[in-house]
Amino acid sequence: MKTPISKKRVLLAVCGGIAAYKSAELVRLLRKQEVEVRVVMTRSAQEFVGALTFQALSGNPVHTELLDADEENAMGHINLARWADVMVIAPATANTIAKCTHGLADDLVTALALTATCPIYMAPAMNQAMWHKAVTQDNIRKLQAYGIHFIGPNAGDQACGETGYGRMAEPAEICQQLLTESKVNILHGLKVLISAGPTREYIDPVRYISNRSSGKMGYALARAALQAGAQVSLVSGPVNLATPAGLDMIAVETAAQMYDAVLAKAENVDIYIGAAAVADYSPMTVEKDKTKKQAEQTSLMLHKTKDILVDVARLDNSPFTVGFAAETRNLETYAREKLQNKKLDMIAANLVGQEQGGFDSEQNALEVFWDNGRKSLAMTDKFHLAEQLIDLIAQSFNEKNRI
Ligand code: PMT
Repeated sequence: MKTPISKKRVLLAVCGGIAAYKSAELVRLLRKQEVEVRVVMTRSAQEFVGALTFQALSGNPVHTELLDADEENAMGHINLARWADVMVIAPATANTIAKCTHGLADDLVTALALTATCPIYMAPAMNQAMWHKAVTQDNIRKLQAYGIHFIGPNAGDQACGETGYGRMAEPAEICQQLLTESKVNILHGLKVLISAGPTREYIDPVRYISNRSSGKMGYALARAALQAGAQVSLVSGPVNLATPAGLDMIAVETAAQMYDAVLAKAENVDIYIGAAAVADYSPMTVEKDKTKKQAEQTSLMLHKTKDILVDVARLDNSPFTVGFAAETRNLETYAREKLQNKKLDMIAANLVGQEQGGFDSEQNALEVFWDNGRKSLAMTDKFHLAEQLIDLIAQSFNEKNRI
């Protein structure tokens, strides 16, 4: 079903940070899965952990110099880049991230990042203030736009004594993400319907009630489903995102329009994923003209909108139905309630209103629940997260349909 990267070749680039010691464990975990690992290190990485450690764990010589006189034609970086099926930079320091953003190639690690044509992952590790600096966040966004995947960082106590985001993701998380890197047509021949973005509930011709959904999660799922070989329809609320090529796009504004668009297709698809942030309530009446400012206080009568997920899951010929749960607390309890009450096949729960992840963020983390299982998907860029969720959906769909 999937091409696991075991028996494949991972190029691990270690940069200079205290988290470098964790990368030794990453090598051990990958080797345990029979992955062939080659390690390259920056000069400062060697101040933290000796090259010999990585040589012993990987069973291969460690490369540290850009110009390697021992290599035939002194083109070591080109050969290593060609050798790799996947490259992971862990820890990725703020400095290496900045250099990669600008295409610098003044050491072996950055030269490899620039040369490699395989998927590249970065597991950032740095002081929390460095992580939050606008320039670092800009660099991350640019690298994501260039197709680099990010794993972590996680929040917690830091070696410098501070607390916050910047801890490198745990080696087991990184290993897991690399191992589940999905590649091939796991949804080939299936029709997938996805809802994305916010809805707008009009009060009058110029005002509406909406929410902070950017559509990034839903669009990432649409791209991941396309990549997995599905025929994808996307019902989208108003967002500022380019429509991925190759899908059937239905643009809507209101919850009622989204309901009609989804229900018109739901019986003819195999999988429905409700990633949209649909308004739960909508104004009872939409004023024909712009309402005038008059009284000191005013109120708005709202009615409940129809629940799209519930009605899709209730169809006689219902597709495999995946809901989302956006919560600010009690994530598991509320998500499991939604899974059960809405009679879903699976639910992907995310914390929203936090510093990182959820609405409008480039990254997200999910707790996924289904009848007899659960899986935590660690904080990473939304596309990579979507790839992992699509993978889980494909597995569960196949189990349900006994493929
Ligand atoms: O768009 P982004 O900025 O990338 O942010 C992503 C996200 C946070 C919006 C996304 O990950 C997410 O959580 N989407 C669901 C948001 C939401 O409305 O959650 P909820 O817990 O209120 O709703 C539960 C489920 O019911 C959702 O699948 C929702 O699509 C569905 N629903 C809700 C109301 C309604 N009338 N009809 C529905 O189908």
